[in-house]
Amino acid sequence: MTRVRPIEAGDREAIRALVAGTGAFKPHEVDVAMELVEIALTRGGQDDYHPYVLVEGDGTVVAYACFGKNPMTKATFDLYWIATRADRMGKGYGRAILSFVEEEVRRRGGRLLVIETSSQESYGTQRLFYEKTGCTLAAQLPDYYDEGDDKLIYLKRIR
Ligand SMILES: CC(C)(COP(=O)(O)OP(=O)(O)OC[C@H]1O[C@@H](n2cnc3c(N)ncnc32)[C@H](O)[C@@H]1OP(=O)(O)O)[C@@H](O)C(=O)NCCC(=O)NCCS
Repeated sequence: MTRVRPIEAGDREAIRALVAGTGAFKPHEVDVAMELVEIALTRGGQDDYHPYVLVEGDGTVVAYACFGKNPMTKATFDLYWIATRADRMGKGYGRAILSFVEEEVRRRGGRLLVIETSSQESYGTQRLFYEKTGCTLAAQLPDYYDEGDDKLIYLKRIR
């Protein structure tokens, strides 16, 4: 039995360990993930970032996602982070928390979910994941992150 809930103050370390433990992110990227966590936990009423965790029956945090509406658009949301705890990958948790995000975006009036990712080989898993979960590659920006490291932009229509 799993469930998805908004993050709580006591989740900080579990989220940091989860994101870092995927091995997919550089230390400064983990720091950026934690900045969003901090904003969500400490700025009451903020509406930019919506972080959630998927927890197992005993409360163990096993997946994390953070999304928010892009304020320059009418109804487009960005998926800022999605990660599954390394030792729980391949069990459907990523798909489950992405489905939850889609439902939340729909509930909040969203029309489109945008997911940006790197073309680097270490990110190969997530590219397969996005393709398997019905996301469409909409654009590729050459050399965006670094020489030979493109930005891939996936879209998921919500309504
Ligand atoms: C991408 C990620 C979130 C996927 O989470 P997950 O819990 O392992 O994914 P799921 O078990 O829900 O898999 C969903 C689908 O993707 C597929 N998939 C996931 N990882 C895969 C892999 N390495 N190779 C092939 N397919 C894969 C699964 O087979 C499944 O498809 P199916 O239902 O048709 O079998 C996880 O690998 C991760 O945290 N990666 C590191 C962090 C990251 O890169 N995040 C994205 C950048 S913000």
